[in-house]
Amino acid sequence: MDRNIPASRILGTGHYLPSQVLTNDDLARRVDTSDEWIRSRTGIGQRHIAAPEEASSDMAAAASRLALEAAGLSPNDLDAIIVGTISPDKRMPACAVYLQQKLGVTNNCPSFDLSAACAGFIYGLGVADAFIRASQSRYVLVVGVELLSRVIDWQDRATCVLFGDGAGAAVLGPSDGDGRGIVSTHLYSDGSKANDLHIPGGGTLMPFSAEVLERREYYVRMNGQEVFKYAVRAISRAAGTAIESNGLTPNDIDWVMPHQANKRILDGVRQRCGVPKERFFINIEETANTSSASVPIVLDQAVRSGHVRRGQNLVFCALGGGFSWGSALVRW
Ligand code: COA
Repeated sequence: MDRNIPASRILGTGHYLPSQVLTNDDLARRVDTSDEWIRSRTGIGQRHIAAPEEASSDMAAAASRLALEAAGLSPNDLDAIIVGTISPDKRMPACAVYLQQKLGVTNNCPSFDLSAACAGFIYGLGVADAFIRASQSRYVLVVGVELLSRVIDWQDRATCVLFGDGAGAAVLGPSDGDGRGIVSTHLYSDGSKANDLHIPGGGTLMPFSAEVLERREYYVRMNGQEVFKYAVRAISRAAGTAIESNGLTPNDIDWVMPHQANKRILDGVRQRCGVPKERFFINIEETANTSSASVPIVLDQAVRSGHVRRGQNLVFCALGGGFSWGSALVRW
C-alpha cells in the first residue's frame, strides 16, 4: 500500500540467537560439503542452532522481552501479537499463543501466526500497521522466528548448509505525527511457484505416514536455482517500489536491511536496485538464513550498534516460500 503519512512506528526491537554455533567445518564432518563450497556459493560461515529443550516460542519470547524493554512497555500493554514463522512449536495452536503465555500476557489480546516464510516479518509489519491505522490496536508485537534446524533435512547438503535458527521482534505503536514510522509496505505472492520451496508432507495433502517419514518428505525441499533467479528479480523490484512509490531515489536510502537469503542473491539485488553497497546491512556470514527472523535480527543489530539514527530511511525486503515477498519503507 502506498502512503506518505505513517500511522505507526517501531518503538523497540530485540533479537535472540541460540548460543550453540555450527561452523561450516563442523557441518562438513556431517555431510559431504566444505567451508570453501558454502562460503563461495552463499557467503555463510556459520549458523546458530537451538538447544534441544528450546522451542520457537522460547526464542520468540527472548527477542520480544528485549523489544518490549526497548519500547518501555509491559507485556500487558500489547493489543495484538503476530508471529511470522514456518517452524511453529506445534501445527496447532499458533506459536503466537505460546509466546503470549511465556510473556505473561493475560489481557486476551489476539495472537496469531502468519505463514509467509521468509517474508513473514514484513507481512507482519503490514498487518500490524493496518491494525494500528484502523484503530483496531495501539501496541502490536511483530515477531519473526524460525527453528529451521528441526525442519531441514540434515542429509540434503543442498539445503542444510543454508539455514539457521533465531528470532527477531519489533513493537509497533502509533506514530507521533512527525513523519517517522512505517511509510509503506508492499506485499506479493506468486502461487505458481509454490512447489519450488516447500515442505511436501505433514499437511492435509500428504498427512504423516510411514511412507512420508521414510521418503523424508516432512523436510524443506527447494529448487535452488529457481529460487535464486526469482529472488534477485523480485526482491530488487520490491525494494525499488518501496523507494519510488514514496518519491525517493536510491541515494535517499540510508540502510537496506534485506532478508539474508544468500550473499550472491544480495549481490544481485545490490546491483539492480542502485543503493550503494555499503548501505546494505549484511550479517549472513554469522547467522546464515534464518527465514522470517532475518530482517528483524538485522534491524535490531543495526539499532543496538548505533548504525540507525533518527530520521533515516530504511528499506526492508525479503522473499521466501510461496513465493511470497515484500518490502517496507521505514523512516526511523
Ligand atoms: N557442498 C558441496 N557440493 C554441493 C552442495 C554442498 N553443500 N550442495 C550441492 N552441491 C553440488 C551438487 O550436488 C552439484 O553437484 P553435481 O554438479 O556433481 O551434480 C553441484 O554442487 C551444483 O549443484 P547446484 O544445485 O546446481 O548448485 P548451485 O550452483 O545452484 O548452488 C545453491 C546451490 C543452493 C547455493 C543455489 O542454488 C542458491 O543459492 N539458491 C538459492 C537458495 C536460497 O537462497 N534459498 C533460500 C531462499 S529464502
